[in-house]
Amino acid sequence: MRELIDRLKAERTLPDRELLLLLTQAGSREREYLFAQARQVSQARFGSWVYTRGLIEFTNYCRCDCYYCGIRRGNQKASRYRLEPEEILRRCADGYRLGFRTFVLQGGEDPYATDQRMVALVQAIKAAHPDCAVTLSIGERSPESYRLLRQAGADRYLLRHETATPSHYARLHPPAQTLEHRMACLWELKRLGYQVGAGFMVGSPWQTADCLVADLRFLEKLQPAMVGIGPFIPHKDTPLAQFPAGTLEQTLLLLGVLRLMFPDLLLPATTALGTISPDGREQGILAGANVVMPNLSPQQVRKKYSLYDNKICTGEEAAESWANLDARMRAIGYRLAVDRGDSPGIHSVQTDMEHP
Ligand code: 5AD
Repeated sequence: MRELIDRLKAERTLPDRELLLLLTQAGSREREYLFAQARQVSQARFGSWVYTRGLIEFTNYCRCDCYYCGIRRGNQKASRYRLEPEEILRRCADGYRLGFRTFVLQGGEDPYATDQRMVALVQAIKAAHPDCAVTLSIGERSPESYRLLRQAGADRYLLRHETATPSHYARLHPPAQTLEHRMACLWELKRLGYQVGAGFMVGSPWQTADCLVADLRFLEKLQPAMVGIGPFIPHKDTPLAQFPAGTLEQTLLLLGVLRLMFPDLLLPATTALGTISPDGREQGILAGANVVMPNLSPQQVRKKYSLYDNKICTGEEAAESWANLDARMRAIGYRLAVDRGDSPGIHSVQTDMEHP
């Protein structure tokens, strides 16, 4: 097993059979070895710095009906909200003072979030904070919409592929939502020059080790700047409420594998990881992750952005959340960076839009 891990580190890939072995047979000693190698790789690229992104969950209206998600259209119990642009800009200004240099606008697929409104919002944030990156995480849109948003100044786009196995995708989503369309969106976003984030849930219902290998193969093709992974966590008001959550161990294992396969990858220790274990995010960093995404949303809406049960949403103000996370990171030998945290090598690429 150690030989496999060494080979993955040296060659950044393995044949299917060996990836399967690693994903299903690694014991705790071998996982520790993997994490040590993964830390070495991330330290060589990023030192002991952890990048931050200020997450603003600006709407939980959604026209999608993903079976796992608490803000799905079909969940009548979700209490819906939308933030006003002024409020969003205030959250960015607060975040900026604390050290955030990336703002992630995340929301459900809200029909109110038209191109016109989103363009104006992106422009306003970029005008107020020209040294910051703006990341959008607002789902599947038309190529024209992605183009307009990029032109307005959006730097990055997060759109998890969720699973690269079509039959698995079909069990997690209604027929109107297809893997084919999701993947087409990801390729279009790349073509437009966004720094793209893909990703998937770990331990989602019906996921097999073969699904995970397919996810890794898809990522090898897509070569995203970022990969967001976190455990599946059931939400009580969804069709998948009765399924067990993904595990901390399996998620950490995948973080380690991803770090060895993609040394430059931006790899967040996600909120879902922090939700299944109190020190999940620290363990994520120690398994090879290098990004955290604290919540900058206003207190009163955080509970409502409930993708899964028990999502961590402490009563912390943004200021406390920076200080607390920094303290947590220092306790394991890392520090939060006051930095946009672009993908290494991205500076050779234009960050301003000229042509699309
Ligand atoms: N458990 C874990 N992650 C979830 N997401 C949505 N619902 C859940 C859940 N029940 C993730 C999806 C989505 C991201 C915004 O949140 O992967 O892309």
